[in-house]
Amino acid sequence: MSDLLLLGIETTCDETAAAVIRRHPDASGEILSNVILSQIADHAEYGGVVPEIAARAHVEVLDEVVAQALSEAGVTLADLDGIAASAGPGLIGGVIVGLTTAKAIALAAHKPLIAVNHLEAHALTARLTDSVPFPYLLLLVSGGHTQLVCVTGIGQYVKLGGTIDDAIGEAFDKVAKMLGLPYPGGPAVENAAVRGNAERFALPRPMLGRREPDFSLSGLKTAVRQEAMRIAPLSEQDVADLCASFQHAIVEVIADRVRAALRLMRERGEKPNALVLAGGVGANEAVRRTLQKVAADAGTRLAVPPPALCTDNGAMIAWAGAERLALGLVDDLDVPPRARWPLAEPAAAPAAGPASESTD
Ligand code: KG4
Ligand code: ZN
Repeated sequence: MSDLLLLGIETTCDETAAAVIRRHPDASGEILSNVILSQIADHAEYGGVVPEIAARAHVEVLDEVVAQALSEAGVTLADLDGIAASAGPGLIGGVIVGLTTAKAIALAAHKPLIAVNHLEAHALTARLTDSVPFPYLLLLVSGGHTQLVCVTGIGQYVKLGGTIDDAIGEAFDKVAKMLGLPYPGGPAVENAAVRGNAERFALPRPMLGRREPDFSLSGLKTAVRQEAMRIAPLSEQDVADLCASFQHAIVEVIADRVRAALRLMRERGEKPNALVLAGGVGANEAVRRTLQKVAADAGTRLAVPPPALCTDNGAMIAWAGAERLALGLVDDLDVPPRARWPLAEPAAAPAAGPASESTD
């Protein structure tokens, strides 16, 4: 088998992104270009992503972003082995823009199309950046998703745990909003927390100690709101202390839930080669530092892509496309865009009631 050269397109949320990567037959890879145009400024005044504005912005800039990715990589469409695009899950307007563009390019350039699950792309990024072999434990933590997944191969994912209410990134975003910090909330909360006292507020640690590695964030979020209301009006120091206390609580919860998942994985007879952290929350320094210790204590290592590859980007889509193409997995041009697209089924059939989050 020879090298594979892939274009990847990402438009599921508020980043318009395209990238070109090369995958070598030994499963190593390199990023030739990685162009990301963030729409954060377009959405900032609304305190979150507005789907209609997002879809329109993708339409306006995607052609240019793709052209730039190709030219920075020094390749033409004819050089490519495949065109990959996120086909979901995500905001459907944006997904349609990216996937349709990829279909048009694939058709015009006579190249195979690979419809990539956005979550699978997050899940596989550590193989590009850190050459992590299967199996591994994945903690996927972004604005829309919070999952612990046992990854044993391409397309082989078993969900060990998830969130019964908010995603972790969403909790960061909501806490930021209630404290008057800008969107996206994760980086804003992390920055404020640096100057704060994490011991000042006694916040709950939901799900701590439970055997099943699930999350629940709404109680913690409500506790932050109640404390903020109790001491209002908030000084800058109050905000910093609330951020520090919230982040401290959430980091302790994450560590405990990951330990539970590592236990479960061992019980399933899988020895993880790494704990892989993926998704936007992976950019958080406190989360990374704590998980490094959790991984070491469990006799494995933490693998985290650099922050720019933890948040949404085109390189991860191109890479996932290359991993699939290397196995001969390609899609027809009528493959549909999907607002919902679960990455993995639960490890055991859950009892009645909500078992997973809204967007996957
Ligand atoms: O993966 P991503 O870019 O987009 C989604 O697919 O959701 O993740 C974005 C999420 C947002 O909720 C953002 O607040 C969070 O990741 N995030 C962070 C940090 N940077 C981004 N959360 C905590 N600390 C950070 N430094
Ligand atoms: Zn994402």
